[in-house]
This record gives sequence, structure tokens and C-alpha cells, in this order.
Amino acid sequence: MQTLQSIRQKFNENLRIIYSDSEIDSLFFICAEEILNLRPVSAKMQMQRVMLEQESAKFTNLLTQLSANQPIQYILGHAPFYGLNFSVNEHTLIPRPETEELVDLIIRNEKHRGSMNILDIGTGTGCIAISLAKYLSNATVTALDISADALEVATANATTLGANVAFLQQDILDWRTTFNRERRFDVIVSNPPYIRDLEKAEMSDHVLKHEPHSALFVSNGDPLIFYREISAFAREALSVNGSLYFEINQYLESEMKSLVEQYGFVKVSVLKDLNGAKRMLHCKR
Ligand SMILES: C[S@@+](CC[C@H](N)C(=O)[O-])C[C@H]1O[C@@H](n2cnc3c(N)ncnc32)[C@H](O)[C@@H]1O
Repeated sequence: MQTLQSIRQKFNENLRIIYSDSEIDSLFFICAEEILNLRPVSAKMQMQRVMLEQESAKFTNLLTQLSANQPIQYILGHAPFYGLNFSVNEHTLIPRPETEELVDLIIRNEKHRGSMNILDIGTGTGCIAISLAKYLSNATVTALDISADALEVATANATTLGANVAFLQQDILDWRTTFNRERRFDVIVSNPPYIRDLEKAEMSDHVLKHEPHSALFVSNGDPLIFYREISAFAREALSVNGSLYFEINQYLESEMKSLVEQYGFVKVSVLKDLNGAKRMLHCKR
């Protein structure tokens, strides 16, 4: 006979070598919510509750997958982002809290514009584009990605969440030949691949072994390739007084500032995320 308490104990024993105590706690409560439909505060008050056989089996199944380093979001097939629930799979990056902060910054800065055209480059699950479409009612949102598999997930998310976003399959590195040069945007945002291969050593297996490398990594030799091409594109495609937003690699902040200035952008500001890492860059055309 298992109780919620004894299952929590098993989570601690089995996951200790992969996760910190606080991460294990958070994984346990996510699983409890998924299986028992209990918010953490209620689960904490019911730790002596005896599990039905079926419930125990579901916990065991999730724990086995977590012990094999599978990210919880891929196991469950969804992840929360900015108050919305996004489907995710192995073709899409799992949306991160620091990206929620970027979305929040854009909404605060841009909500006073009248109607506006927004472009999200490298949309993945569509988390940035869909959140902006939901929370900026004056916005017309377009989003692109090179990956057809990611776009399939993003399109399904937009439908489920009732957001109006136009998706395009496009290689942004090839924008000079493929993008409609007549189009203008008031806001361009991108969280492109920015982790250098040399940073792999700092990363945990559940990211390295499961998340798509094409969404994460750039070569050590040219780590700013996406930012350079997107800045060159944005110089043409942003309307007067348009805004460019990037999520950036905290280790390359000064290089990023010089890069956007080189492309003629002004009023460059870099903001820290909640962990104190220099993570968001905003500049104007
Ligand atoms: C860091 S992920 C960001 C995903 C999502 N926007 C988010 O913030 O969670 C980068 C995305 O860029 C896409 N990508 C990679 N290379 C690309 C390219 N050449 N052109 C367009 N998109 C690209 C990847 O498929 C991936 O979805």
C-alpha cells in the first residue's frame, strides 16, 4: 500500500543523482497535479492519502521516465507558458521562464501602440507569438521557423489556444532570397539558437539528450550568426520607430550590444532575468 508520502520518498531516492532537492519537489508536485488533479497546496495537506493501484502505477510510470532523464514536459506533452498551456514534443524547445520575461517586457513596452504587425523568428512551440497575439489585442502576428515539425506543433497550439497567428516555414539565414521585401513590422522578436558548443559541458543530460540541438546550439566560431542575420533583416523590415527584441546569451552581452549598434539600432538596453543573467536586449530602429 502506497501513500502520497511514500511516493514522494521514492521520487527523492530515485531522482537524487539527476536533480536538486527543490527540482525533485517541483517534479513530484507536477506529477501529483497531473495524476490526482491536486494543486501543490492540497497535495501537501493529503500526504497520508492512500493511492489506488492505478494511481500508483501512473506515478511509477512517470518516475521511470524521469529517471531516464526525460524532461517532464516531454513526458506529459505540455508545458505552461505565460499563463497558457502549450503542447510540446521532441521537435520543439521547451518554453523557458526567461522567455516569459521577454514576452512580459514586450507587452509592457508595446501595448500602447495602435494596430501593429509583429514577427516572431524561430517560433518553436509558438509560445512567444501566441502569447503576444492573445495579450496584445491590436497585434497582427506572423511567426516563422525552419522546422516543419515545430510549425505543426505551433499551429496546433494556436488553434487550441484561440490565437490568430500566421505561420511560415522559412530559413531566416536565407532571408535575402526568400522573404517578401515589401513587408514591414513594428516589432520583431527572436529567441534564436544561441548556446555555443563549448557550453555543452555545463548542461544537464535531460536538455542535451532530449531537446532539439537545432533549436539550441551554434558553432563556437560564429555564435552570433542568427543575431547578425536577424539584425540585417530587421534594419530593412522594421518600420520607423519599430522595436527589435532578442533573448540573448548572457556571456555575449557586450558583443550583442556592439552588433546591433553596428547595424544602426539605437536606444539599446539589456535587461536581466529573474536569475540576474543579462538575458533580454531591446533596441529601436
Ligand atoms: C531557441 S529555440 C526558440 C523557440 C521558441 N521561440 C521559444 O522561445 O521557446 C530556436 C528556434 O529557432 C528555430 N530555427 C533554427 N534555425 C533556424 C533558421 N535557420 N531559420 C528559422 N528558424 C530557425 C528552431 O527550429 C527553434 O524552434
